[in-house]
Amino acid sequence: MPLDSLTGAMPFYVTTPIFYVNAAPHLGHAYTTIAADVMARHMRQRGEDVFFLTGTDEHGEPVALAAEAQGMTPRELADKNAERFKALMPQLHASNDFFIRTSDPEHEAKVQEVLQRVHDNGHVYKGLYEGWYCPRCADFKSENEQGPGHTCLIHEIELTREQEENWFFRLSTFQKPLEELLQTEFVQPAARRNEAIAFVAQGLQDVSLTRGKITWGVRVPWDPGHVFYVWFDALLNYYTALSYARDGEDITERFWGEPTTHLIGKDILKFHTIYWPALLMAADLPLPRRVFVHGFLLGGDGRKMSKSLGNVLDPFEVIERFGVDALRFYLMRDVSFGEDGSVSMEGVESRYTTELANDLGNLASRTIKMVQRYRDGAVPDVPLDEGLQRDFAALSGDFCRAMDDFRVSDALEVVWERVRRLNAFVEEQAPWQLAKDEARAGDLDRALASLVEGLRTVGVMLVPYLPERMGALLDALNVEDRTLRAFGEGARVERVGDLEPLFPRIDRAAAA
Ligand code: MSP
Repeated sequence: MPLDSLTGAMPFYVTTPIFYVNAAPHLGHAYTTIAADVMARHMRQRGEDVFFLTGTDEHGEPVALAAEAQGMTPRELADKNAERFKALMPQLHASNDFFIRTSDPEHEAKVQEVLQRVHDNGHVYKGLYEGWYCPRCADFKSENEQGPGHTCLIHEIELTREQEENWFFRLSTFQKPLEELLQTEFVQPAARRNEAIAFVAQGLQDVSLTRGKITWGVRVPWDPGHVFYVWFDALLNYYTALSYARDGEDITERFWGEPTTHLIGKDILKFHTIYWPALLMAADLPLPRRVFVHGFLLGGDGRKMSKSLGNVLDPFEVIERFGVDALRFYLMRDVSFGEDGSVSMEGVESRYTTELANDLGNLASRTIKMVQRYRDGAVPDVPLDEGLQRDFAALSGDFCRAMDDFRVSDALEVVWERVRRLNAFVEEQAPWQLAKDEARAGDLDRALASLVEGLRTVGVMLVPYLPERMGALLDALNVEDRTLRAFGEGARVERVGDLEPLFPRIDRAAAA
């Protein structure tokens, strides 16, 4: 398939969940952010009109409780920790276009406007709520969401019995439209869609839209003694951000609805696949195109990561030892995206050595060195090897299709097959033998030109995963155009320059 048919300036809007400011940034936050960033960078390379949003979720009881425990006001804690999440983005080389804070006055005003509309449309009523509540999830738990003895299945803490007068959102009236929505591709992958379907099939109950006992939140315009329940305030970030993210410009029309993809972890599926579309319907707003649900990163022993088990992979330690690109690559490569997977420092080290340093790093340095040694750095302008051309023919189409489905690890494997193919090609062609025989100068030209074109092709495709290192590679190849171009379809590389080792050997003693 020609690449042109897969590209074009279509609006594409990708979001991460917004992060609670009551905890420090950890690997789970990095994971979601990196995956969204890979997608945003890829779509930009296809010439799409991309907007990538991330930010912090600052209101609600978990933050208020954490602030109290640290002797701070919620705002002080939010200000302090929002900075840490903001600082995380450049550390991960995330290319987000905006960073929303739910304490932004523009967000708060828009939340009030939308939820007032939900109220005026008749989807809100006052009632008494009684139920089992997890302060860490900021969520009331139904019977089948509870562990033994009224405990939270996620946090393994005791739930509290709460009773209060609240404004309710008539979620139950959206039973039918949600059942219909969940028959579509709205939730991906399919296994997660089934979880959402099963939840709706139990019969939807109305949910609290406001809280009366809490003050740290967005005031309810029709009842100022209440603030909105933090999940509704938080979900609306995806919509409100577009109205003020760009100075003097409202980009809601351009990016909201069909162009929108939400990326989330499986623990927040109910909110994004049930509450969120129902709320949008109640406010007469368009729905996002899809919610893609990824799995959980587990400790190397396959158990939930926890400090007490000593199985936590610290993203900052990985960055320090192997560089940020290695972290990005490892997380996208080692865990099949959408599923749960175990991660460990040994795993990072092994992928780094076998795939980054050996497969890709060696291919790049050998190729460049051979062009320098045998052709003084000038890449021969000759027809490319036909066999290699055939092996690369399906690459762009397969790669883009995997990306379209948010299968970021499958897409990486599609490229890696070609990285391995190029290494095999070096061995088959043995340019060092061809160089000894003047009569085979044409074969050497073809081999070198094909290798460089292969390297350019995979280098450009890998930019979203390895932005820094592939930037260095493409600089050495003097490639200016970094949009996706299939093998043999990009402007040909004319000269190669020097390249430092892309993935230097890590001295184990120094690294430990
Ligand atoms: N504030 C809410 C989201 C509101 S979105 C309108 C929240 N925040 S969070 O900081 O707790 O989590 C943010 C994301 O990190 C979630 O998608 C969650 O799934 C993800 N992860 C947290 N730990 C994780 C792992 N161990 N593995 C993978 N992702 C996990 O939820």
